[in-house]
Amino acid sequence: MYKVIDGKALAAKMREDIKQKVQASGKNIGLAVVLVGDDPASQVYVRNKIKACGEVGIKSYAYRLDKDATQASVEELVKSLAEDNNVHGILVQLPMPPHIDSKKVLSHIPCKKDVDGFCAENIGKLCMNEDCLVACTPNGVMQMLASEGIELKGKNAVVVGRSNIVGKPMAMLLTNADATVTVCHSKTADLKQVCLNADVLVAAIGKAKFITADMVKEGAVVIDVGMDRDENGKLCGDVDFENVKEKCSYISPVPGGVGPMTITMLMYNTYLAAVRS
Ligand code: GUN
Repeated sequence: MYKVIDGKALAAKMREDIKQKVQASGKNIGLAVVLVGDDPASQVYVRNKIKACGEVGIKSYAYRLDKDATQASVEELVKSLAEDNNVHGILVQLPMPPHIDSKKVLSHIPCKKDVDGFCAENIGKLCMNEDCLVACTPNGVMQMLASEGIELKGKNAVVVGRSNIVGKPMAMLLTNADATVTVCHSKTADLKQVCLNADVLVAAIGKAKFITADMVKEGAVVIDVGMDRDENGKLCGDVDFENVKEKCSYISPVPGGVGPMTITMLMYNTYLAAVRS
């Protein structure tokens, strides 16, 4: 029998705790959120991030720039936020329009305000298992595993996807937790066989229902990071939930799984950035 990991409920509980921490800090904590262009998914994510700030008592500063905004204008905005003492965290929503060099934009975010955990210093510290701001989605996954008391030491963990935002930091967190980690991607030979070896399988591919029941070991823990649309345009994950669930000990759904936890960890990182400033 499988158990569904309820990310929404865990997120609500953690947000209550973060709200208390924010209050107890006695600080006016601020998060700047920058959105360039009109990507519909990004608009939804940004709206949810701003809403979460309100829930936990963090002041949000939203900057919505036109899709034709110049490289210089985006860079100038981020540089000014870097100097702004009311802003403890800076989040630049990705992807940005193709004419924008996002790497250059992100380079202006000081590491102590890098609440996404994307900068080289934070990634390097994570790699060395040192205290740092950890990328929100993988950190949310770790909280979900911990909330169920899922043991990682000595387990085979397979991460499907090698993005800088999810796959790579996820692999480091699992490694730091003493799992034996394999990272798979589009060029992996015999992906199915590798996945079948997973005690813990994290799907971060970006393809609807890509992980099918024949790829999952009996009793595995399956965490779905995907945010995709199925053939009817309905929101779904990277895992074929209905067919995979019967093989699992634990499985996270989409929606209501990792998504709410990503935003919760962003709130937590903003709190950490503020109390450390
Ligand atoms: N786009 C998709 N996920 C993320 C995220 O975690 N952070 C930012 N900044 N952009 C994203």
